Amino acid sequence: MLIRTLAHLSDLHLDLSRESDATASALVETLLAERVDHVVVTGDLTHQGSRSEYRRFRELFAPLLDAGRLSFIPGNHDRTGEDAGGQWMNGQKVRVEQHEGLFLVCVDSTGPHNRNYFACHGELTRAVLDEVDAALSAAPTGALTAVLLHHHVLPLPEESLPERFATRMGWPHASELALGAELVRRVQGRCDLILHGHRHVPREFDLGPTRGRGLRIYNSGSSIELGRFRLFQHAAGRLVGEPVWQGTALPPVRKRSAPNVMPALQYLASQLTVSLL
Ligand SMILES: [Fe+2]
Ligand SMILES: [Fe+2]
Repeated sequence: MLIRTLAHLSDLHLDLSRESDATASALVETLLAERVDHVVVTGDLTHQGSRSEYRRFRELFAPLLDAGRLSFIPGNHDRTGEDAGGQWMNGQKVRVEQHEGLFLVCVDSTGPHNRNYFACHGELTRAVLDEVDAALSAAPTGALTAVLLHHHVLPLPEESLPERFATRMGWPHASELALGAELVRRVQGRCDLILHGHRHVPREFDLGPTRGRGLRIYNSGSSIELGRFRLFQHAAGRLVGEPVWQGTALPPVRKRSAPNVMPALQYLASQLTVSLL
């Protein structure tokens, strides 16, 4: 039985800092040393959505990119600044990729509001869910089938003071995708994995089998902050064993360059104005 490997990374937030570059470079070295068959990166590749950060991503991941062993989708940070991530899906919200033993349904969960740094929550529409349905209907038997998107589909604990503040204010910023649970219901029994990022602390859900097929949901967490990624094994369209963590010997990146706070302040001002009117 031929066993293949799939690595899941996310939230690299490449901001050209020495630490994030070094960790990303070391992660790529680990991926190559492990001879990982395919790699997915589920958004927030860049920190401020700049073309230079995206160029840096392509430079660092070139060995995988050039070999057709890399898939990636945009996250909310990729839509800020110069909107580098706005072009990655070629205008599509759902795109299918097929690789050796893999059927990947790539979903763009970002929305126009993500142009604002502070409005970080995702967006799914019923039309997008219908597209995912149609894509899964064409999935071949014998391929591990995964839905990739950036934002979380089920509720997760808040991880920071701003997230708690936003939730207390009744804003959607820290919430799961409004149609996330519906997406999960619609794909159960039809795919094996939902892989996402956005939240920087890794999580996982095992939803058990539906019509004989199990569904697992994995949040990668920030691969840069963790200095590691999950590695799945699969064969004949099914997972083999449990995923394992692989990492670098470098210390995790803890500090980021300061974000541009002006959009956040503008957003706060607009929300307060709305509240006062
Ligand atoms: Fe992120
Ligand atoms: Fe994000």
